[in-house]
Parts: sequence; structure tokens; C-alpha cells
Amino acid sequence: MSAHHQPFRMTSRRGHALRGVARVPGDKSISHRALILGALAVGETRIEGLLEGQDVLDTASAMRAFGATVERDADGVWHVHGVGVGGLAEPADVIDCGNSGTGVRLIMGMMATSPITATFTGDASLRSRPMGRVTDPLALFGARAHGRRGGRLPMTIEGAADPVPVSYTLPVASAQVKSAVLLAGLNAPGETVVIEHEATRDHTERMLRGFGARVEVEDRPEGRVIRLTGRPELRPQSISVPRDPSSAAFPVCAALIAEGSDVLVPNIGLNPTRAGLFTTLREMGADLTYENLREEGGEPVADLRARFSPDLRGIEVPPARAASMIDEYPILSVVAAFASGATVMRGVRELRVKESDRIDAMARGLRAAGVEVEEGDDWWIVHGRGHGNVAGGALVEIRLDHRIAMSFLVMGLATDQMMTIDDGAPIATSFPVFEPLMTGLGAAIARDAA
Ligand code: S3P
Repeated sequence: MSAHHQPFRMTSRRGHALRGVARVPGDKSISHRALILGALAVGETRIEGLLEGQDVLDTASAMRAFGATVERDADGVWHVHGVGVGGLAEPADVIDCGNSGTGVRLIMGMMATSPITATFTGDASLRSRPMGRVTDPLALFGARAHGRRGGRLPMTIEGAADPVPVSYTLPVASAQVKSAVLLAGLNAPGETVVIEHEATRDHTERMLRGFGARVEVEDRPEGRVIRLTGRPELRPQSISVPRDPSSAAFPVCAALIAEGSDVLVPNIGLNPTRAGLFTTLREMGADLTYENLREEGGEPVADLRARFSPDLRGIEVPPARAASMIDEYPILSVVAAFASGATVMRGVRELRVKESDRIDAMARGLRAAGVEVEEGDDWWIVHGRGHGNVAGGALVEIRLDHRIAMSFLVMGLATDQMMTIDDGAPIATSFPVFEPLMTGLGAAIARDAA
């Protein structure tokens, strides 16, 4: 969110069952990538179903600053006229990526192998997040970064005039870092290699292939090895963005905990690198089914049907599943509060460097609502109280984090006392229609009168 955003409080309370169809917006990860690769192709890329959340709108503005033409037509279809790999212009002003770690990290990668300089900034949340994880591999290509202490924004990147290709093993499981390296590799001659020990979301690899780049992926003992051949001519595409499983998580989880609910969430991408939450919920005993399972654009897609599930059980979430549900731990911890027994989440240190420290933000709010939480550096345990036994009645600080905001609003739909969040504005970064969509299902969610 930009610095001028106006905070507003929101509340949620137990009320009606949730019923109906929840059409959630387009996938955020895929939307960023569609704009960026569209900007690197020569000719017109057409994008249907783009997420029109602030994070993605900020990436659209950035692509214009690097020389692409980006327009939305009256039917909501986006048209990107790209400049080609190696054709980026130097931005005339600072690039403000707002709240978006994905936006800034992918764009830094995209420009790091062009002979141009760009300065990046963002909101208070983004300015507190580490960028060294991206600038370290970009330095291997020959790019130079000048940021604040600790590798924080604002930061200037001087792109490499004579980039060399790189072979890089990811030190953290991060699709953003992987994607930054691959995007930088596009304008380096020869082969760029990225090795990841754990499979993270693979939208960049899939979409690069769709645009005509040569990307080979091999599972080897040392991990997943991704090889990209540099300097391809990217061909413009027509892209239909699937609906976002990370946004679907909110109406799905709301239906599981709100008595009498039955909600259908159609057309959700179930790429295995993204669908870990749904597997976990089913293991907890959730009445969650996949209907009409099919393939679309090379991705598995289904309609999700979620019904009220009074007998949820806590489980130990396998750490190997963490990357496939990394953005869903906040809402999972809410569901865990209504389950019986402990839900144990390990191997999740990355949650501490998201839009907020998500373990700390959730633990504080859950405790204030009467739920016992234990935490360590890279783990946390929520001790579920069972359906009908969660007090609620807390005012929670959401710390510029859209997923913390939506998680506590969903929680209030099943607590004894209403839940309040200090600021609903950041929800617009990823899910601008959250409020009308949820109230349309019958949820008692409202903005406080100013
Ligand atoms: C994303 C990758 C993940 C995720 C973020 C989106 C992406 O971040 O948390 O919301 O689109 O590549 P990390 O790569 O830092 O794990």
C-alpha cells in the first residue's frame, strides 16, 4: 500500500451460515509474471482475469516506467506491448512497489542484466524486508546494489552492462529469489542454472516456456535443477489467469468454521506447488471436496466445495509441505483454533519475513482472543479449543499485512465475541473484493463508522 493509505477499522461477528458461490480474483503470483513477461516480449500480450489488486497495479506501473505500454480495456482485459529481452528503458523516477515483495524482487531480477540503473522503494512493510537474498545472486551476474543497512529499500540497482550467466543454489526456499535469478538470466548469454532443494511455486518456469524460452527442469539428488537458455526472443501470449488458491483459502476456511455453511469456490488452480493448505485441511477432517477436477492451460483446476466442519482435529503439518502453503499459515492457524488438539507447524522460519512477522502477528491476536499459542524461531503450535469454545473479543494490529487482516476477520465469524482489526485497507493489495464477496455469502463483516 502506498504511504497515503487511509486506515479503517473492520469488525466481524458470528451470524448467519455462509452460503453461495465465491468467485475469487485472479492469482497474484501469475498476474505479476504475466505483466513482466509481457513487457519482455516483442508485440502484444493479452491478459484476461488479471488480479487488479494494488500489488499488481504497482507492477503494471513499473513496467510502464521500463518502457512497456500497459493498458486495460473496457472489458477488463489487459494489453501489454513489450520492449523485448534487452530492450528495457531506464526509469525516469523511483519505482514504488508498494507492499509487494514479489513485485520488487522479480523486477530487480528483470532489470539486473540491462545497462540501466533503477531505484526501488515501497511501503513501511516492504522497506523492512530483506533484499540481500535477491541482490546476492544478482551480483554474480555483475549487477551492483546500493541499499540501506541490512539490504533494505530504498535501494538502487546498477544493471550489469556485460552480464555473465550464473549457477545458483537457493539458500532459502523462495520462488521470488528463484524467479529473480531466472528473469536476470534472460538477458545473460549462455545458460543460467538455479537449484532448489525444495520445490517452490513454478509459475515462472511454466510461463517462460509458454513465451517460448528454453527451460529444462530435472529432479536430481541435489534438488530441482532448472536450466534457462539466455537471450531468447519471447513471443507475446494470450494468458487467462486462474483464480488464486491463496485468496480461495479465506472463504473456504470461513465455511469450515461458521455453523451451517456450504460454499462453492469455482475454478481454483490446484498446482501442487500451491495446494498444500487444502491437503492439510482435509487431513484435519474438513468437509472440503474437489468437484469438476480438470486441466486448464496445463494446470490442474477444480471447483472447491467447503461445508461447516464441527469435528476438526489438530495435526502436525509436514515441514516438506511448507513451501506449497507458505502464505496460508495465518488462515490455517485460525482454523486450528477451532479444531480439537494441537496443530504443529514446523520449518516455517520464512513466515517471519513476510509482509509482517506472521508468527508473531498471529500469535498475539490468537492469544488476545483466548487461544494458547507456543512459538519458536521456525515453529509454532496452536492449541485448538474446539468449535464453539473460542472467546474472540480482541482488537488486532494487522501491521500492513493483508493476510493477517483477512485471517482475523474470518476468525470473528465463529468466535463468541466479535473480532476487530485496526486496518482493513491493506486487504486491497491482494483481494480488493474481499468485503463484498464475504458479505454476499452472508458473513457479518463491516467497516467501523469513522
Ligand atoms: C511468491 C512467493 C512467495 C510467497 C509470495 C508470492 C511468488 O514468497 O510468499 O506471496 O509469487 O513468487 P517467497 O518466494 O519469499 O517464499
